[in-house]
Amino acid sequence: MRDIVIFVSGSGSNMQRIVEYFRGRGQVCVAKVFCNRPDALALKRAEQFGIPTAVFGKDALYRSDAVLCALQSLSPDLIVLAGFLWKIPENIIHAFPGKIVNIHPALLPRYGGKGMYGEHVHRAVLAHGDTESGITIHYVNENYDEGDIIFQAKCCVDREDTPDTLAKKIHALEYEHFPAVIEKLLIIPK
Ligand code: GRF
Repeated sequence: MRDIVIFVSGSGSNMQRIVEYFRGRGQVCVAKVFCNRPDALALKRAEQFGIPTAVFGKDALYRSDAVLCALQSLSPDLIVLAGFLWKIPENIIHAFPGKIVNIHPALLPRYGGKGMYGEHVHRAVLAHGDTESGITIHYVNENYDEGDIIFQAKCCVDREDTPDTLAKKIHALEYEHFPAVIEKLLIIPK
């Protein structure tokens, strides 16, 4: 059995998709969901599946080893960022080399970096008149959205698209590919 933990900040629909994908497959267990917002819908979703949750603030992440220690005690095979908006600090990156992955709702290296999340990304893609967008799953390093790319998938951007309709296309790609990419990383480690 492989254990993963998932970091979230908001809705948690990708987290739910990952949980559902691995349920009943018997090879991967979502051991805990870490969340930086006590009011996040993701926490309710995790609780509905009976997954333990941990809510933490900036002190626990940046000014102490509290989150690091919690992770070390779980010893996960993979740490998955699924809509987690804070930067992962160096102490955690160094403790889990090659074991932290993120999903970004655009084709990196375009539209990445601080402040580039959710609707901001889709607005920027539309403002530039791009005809395609997509998703990037990548390893996490010290800089936002700059770790090695593991996987990308594309979708068309149509003239009629709004940030909302583009977000729906991107979410569909995420649901289709993120769990399967996680599975590959766990079952066939690099
Ligand atoms: C996703 O689009 C993901 O790419 C980005 O944040 C969004 C999270 O959505 N990093 P959800 O919370 O999984 O619904």
